[in-house]
Amino acid sequence: MEIKRIAVIGAGQMGRGIAQVAAQAELEVFLIDASLELAERGKATIARDLERLAEKGKIERKAADALLGRIRPLANLAALAENPNAPDLAIEAVNEDFELKRQVFQNLDRVLRKEALIASNTSSISITKLAAQTQRPAQVIGMHFMNPVPVMKLVEIVRGLQTSDSTFQAIRSLAERLGKTTIVSRDKAGFIVNRMLIPFINEACFALEEGLGTPEDIDAGARLGLNHPMGPLALADLIGLDTCLAIAEVLHKELGDDKYRPAPILRQYVAAGWLGRKTGRGFYSYDSPTVKT
Ligand code: CAA
Repeated sequence: MEIKRIAVIGAGQMGRGIAQVAAQAELEVFLIDASLELAERGKATIARDLERLAEKGKIERKAADALLGRIRPLANLAALAENPNAPDLAIEAVNEDFELKRQVFQNLDRVLRKEALIASNTSSISITKLAAQTQRPAQVIGMHFMNPVPVMKLVEIVRGLQTSDSTFQAIRSLAERLGKTTIVSRDKAGFIVNRMLIPFINEACFALEEGLGTPEDIDAGARLGLNHPMGPLALADLIGLDTCLAIAEVLHKELGDDKYRPAPILRQYVAAGWLGRKTGRGFYSYDSPTVKT
């Protein structure tokens, strides 16, 4: 099955990045959030990112305009059912919360045509469990992009228990068309990337809490001592501390080992609304938050 039109559900940083790379690969993209205003705001943020790239000479303005022209904000999922150009695939990129994803999956199952595929960008939640919320479990798969999506080369593909070979092939071809390299993970909490990354970030939080070093020293340790492009605390601020905590909780609950328990400081920062770059404060402070609190 060749995928020509997609719907991206969630216009946060992951959904926006997915919409951008898909439109860049000449796919038609419907961008949907909880309201038309949020979807339009998501598109405006993509336009701002593209403007920066154009200023740096990384994309031609004409190409940026054509890319934006392929992204269509919609008010809600129901608008998909009424659309004559129904999508071949929906990629869900809403918050890392099972209850919310369950509702999105059930609604998508109702509005999409019966051949359409559903992928989740979840970082940790079971694809098998999400697939079971639909009447089309063989057409459900994990398509996990990395942040920032336009820059990172990887897509982690997660096969649920019921995912069919044809769904897998279609999604792998799509990821390659988007210029990404794929890896395949079994459907187990955190998959491959977050099984490694979140314990690393969580351990950096414990280290901070114990006063082992300042945030700057902990991050410089990873950057200069391990050659990581950014330290774990700065990366947590980029991902969002709420997302890091949600993934840590899934790892702890599903794998059942206390070595995955979230660091108290991570819980405390999330409780304070210090979610990282998007709120202007996390382990570091930022001048221009990307969402209002
Ligand atoms: N579209 C296209 N290109 C973009 C872009 C966009 N929206 N935003 C930035 N870029 C490009 C820039 O133009 C720049 O290109 P050049 O190198 O050719 O100049 C490049 O990306 C890097 O951007 P910056 O110069 O602004 O920033 P930087 O050099 O400091 O790098 C970084 C920033 C890419 C984030 C880098 O620090 C990095 O790789 N950090 C690690 C990120 C990481 O680990 N991500 C994975 C997170 S885990 C995850 O996502 C999974 C999960 O489930 C939690």
